[in-house]
Amino acid sequence: MQDALDGRALYEAGCASCHGSDGRGAPPDRIAFDDPLPDLTDCSFASREPDPDWIIVSKAGGPVRGFSDVMPAFGEAFDDDQLQSIMDHIRTFCTDRSWPRGELNLPRALITEKAYPEDEWVWTTGVNADGPGAVINELLYEKRFGARNQIEIALPFGFAQTREPRAAGNGASAADWGAGLGDIEIGYKRALVHNLETIFSFGTEVKLPTGDEARGLGDGELKVEPFLALGQIVGGDGFLQLQAGTELAVDGPEREAFWRAVFGRTFTSGEFGRAWSPMIAVLGSADLEDTSRAEWDLVPQMQVTLNTRQHVMLNVGVRLPLTDSDVRSTQLLVYILWDWFDGGLFDGW
Ligand code: HEC
Repeated sequence: MQDALDGRALYEAGCASCHGSDGRGAPPDRIAFDDPLPDLTDCSFASREPDPDWIIVSKAGGPVRGFSDVMPAFGEAFDDDQLQSIMDHIRTFCTDRSWPRGELNLPRALITEKAYPEDEWVWTTGVNADGPGAVINELLYEKRFGARNQIEIALPFGFAQTREPRAAGNGASAADWGAGLGDIEIGYKRALVHNLETIFSFGTEVKLPTGDEARGLGDGELKVEPFLALGQIVGGDGFLQLQAGTELAVDGPEREAFWRAVFGRTFTSGEFGRAWSPMIAVLGSADLEDTSRAEWDLVPQMQVTLNTRQHVMLNVGVRLPLTDSDVRSTQLLVYILWDWFDGGLFDGW
C-alpha cells in the first residue's frame, strides 16, 4: 500500500507530468501547453519562495497568485499534510543549503534594515507633520548576488524649508522652500548564518557627502555605517527584527551608535488573500562620546500586499520622537515596494 505521506510518490502522481520527475519541467513534446515551467532545481528561484505561497498555488491553482491557469488547483485532490509532503520533496531539488529560505524574508519595516538579501525597488516618502516643512524621498535599489549577498544604492532627494529664518524684514515665506539631493548611499549586505527560523547578517553602508546640507538634506560628510541585522520568526506568523550599528565620519570626530527593534505579525484576510503586517519599531541612537543623551523614536506602521502576486507592497507609518520632541519633528512615512524578481511591476494584479 502506498504511504499517504510519501511526498515523492504524490509528486510523481500529481505534478511530474508537467514539472518533470527531476523538477526541471517536462520536455516540450510531452506537454500540450506553451507556458514556461519553473525550474524547481534552480536555488536562486526556488529558495526564495516560502512553502505557504507554493501550497496556496498548489491548492487553488496558478491564478490565485497571478500565474497561468495551466497550473491546476489540487485542493480537492490533496489535503494540507499531503501538499506539505510534496513541498518537502520539491525542496530536495535545490541541493545547495547556503540559500536562505523565503520564509525568512520578513515584512520590511520603515527605516530598519532587514537581514534577508533582497531584489527590490523601494520608494519611501517622509513628510514632517510639525516643525519646519520637509518632504524627503528615497529611491532604493537592491540586488542579490550569489546565495547570500546583496548590494544596494539609495538616492535621497527632497524639498525642505530653510532652517534659519531669513534676516529681519525679509521674513520666512513659501519662497524659503528649496529642492535638493540628499546623501547617496551605497551598501553591501551578507547573510552570515541562517536556519528555517533565524537569519543573521552583516552589512555596511557608505554615505557620500552629496547632500545639500544647508537645506537639511544631508550631513555633508563621508560616513561609513557597519551594522548587524537579525530576523527571527516567532510562533509562525510573528517576527522580531533587530539592527544595530555605528555611523562613523571618515574625516571627522563624529561617531554615533544606533539600535533598532521591530516586532510584528502577519495576518491574511481570506484563505488565500492579502497579507497585513502591523509592526511597531523602537529606534535609538546616541553619540558614542556621550551615550547618556540617547534619542528614541517609536514607529507604529502597517505593511500590506497590494496585488495578487503579493510582490508589490505598501507600508504606512509615523515616526514619533520620544526624546527632544520640541526640536525633532513627527514624520509621516510611506513606502511602495516592488520585489522585482517575482515579476514586472504590472504583473500579477
Ligand atoms: C498541467 C500541468 C501542471 C501540473 C499537473 C502541475 N503544474 Fe505546477 N505549474 C504549471 C505551470 C505551467 C506553471 C507556471 C505558471 C506560471 O508561471 O504562470 C506552474 C507553476 C507552479 C508553481 C508556482 C511556482 C512559482 O513561480 O512560484 C508551483 C508551486 C507549482 N506549479 C506546484 C505544483 C505542484 C505541487 C503540482 C502537483 C501537486 C503541480 N504544480 C502540478 C503546470 C502544472
